[in-house]
Amino acid sequence: MGKERRTGSGPADLAAPEIAGAELSGAELAAAGLTAGLRAGYDAAADHWAEGPGLMYAPLATALVAAAPVPLAGAVVLDLGAGVGVAGRAALAAGARRVAGADLSEGMLRRGRGGSPVVADAIALPFRDHSFDLVVAAFCLNHLSCLEAGLAEARRVGAAIAASMFAPGWTHPAKDAVDDAARSFGYRPPAWHTVLAPGSRASDPEVLAGQAAAAGFTGVRAQVTDVPAGLASPAELAAWRLGMAHFAPFMRSLDAPGRAAVRRAAEQAVAAVAGTSPLVVSIVVLTAG
Ligand SMILES: C[S@@+](CC[C@H](N)C(=O)[O-])C[C@H]1O[C@@H](n2cnc3c(N)ncnc32)[C@H](O)[C@@H]1O
Repeated sequence: MGKERRTGSGPADLAAPEIAGAELSGAELAAAGLTAGLRAGYDAAADHWAEGPGLMYAPLATALVAAAPVPLAGAVVLDLGAGVGVAGRAALAAGARRVAGADLSEGMLRRGRGGSPVVADAIALPFRDHSFDLVVAAFCLNHLSCLEAGLAEARRVGAAIAASMFAPGWTHPAKDAVDDAARSFGYRPPAWHTVLAPGSRASDPEVLAGQAAAAGFTGVRAQVTDVPAGLASPAELAAWRLGMAHFAPFMRSLDAPGRAAVRRAAEQAVAAVAGTSPLVVSIVVLTAG
């Protein structure tokens, strides 16, 4: 595990040569490559996260924190997979005494404000047992190749958890529209994203609840809820998609006119399919003590 906890950015692919080591099994090597690709994607996405995906993730984080299973007043909170820290800020606004943010991506943490950011992998956290009253994990656990390991680690460091992921089957027409538009410019999804395909990143509430109970949590609830995320215009929806970590390295590889051309094509594609209703995201909220 320690071998995977590097802070340098690696190649955005499963075959991550500098991570390869004779002492690693094939599965460990694949997991290490996945971690490195993911980290590189989020590092690349960080600069423009707030004006793209961040517009969607902020209201989702607020909804998650509002569902916390313990009082936030005076609580010491871990924002796990903090990104730019929207869930931690929502916890502070709700009265939390202190928030630490942990994330694989140093780039995302650097874009956050306040808190105590720590570059760390959710499956090997650098905190003592029982350090936190609450672990908030907004769309972090759905990135793990081993969800059980993430839940066990959250259980070790925290007294309670509030975690979110996308509901099984939830999608939006802007996703395919932007994918297709970007592909026509040469975009290909990175291997880590293909491995964490949408189906495997969503969690069936019952399965998730069972895994949380197996990790030692009690009072487990996992419920699907719809959260209005506000985005409605083709420009906002295209910026959400193109700002995601699996697109970011591709967008950065283009010059300014190239990026503008992809954006235009993505907005046109979204306008053709998405209608004008504001985005509503169906999420699973896991809470437990
Ligand atoms: C979709 S973003 C969500 C960020 C933030 N929680 C929010 O709601 O805006 C997922 C975040 O999880 C982080 N992440 C993914 N896998 C991780 C892991 N194994 N350990 C820690 N952070 C991880 C990513 O770097 C990224 O910042």
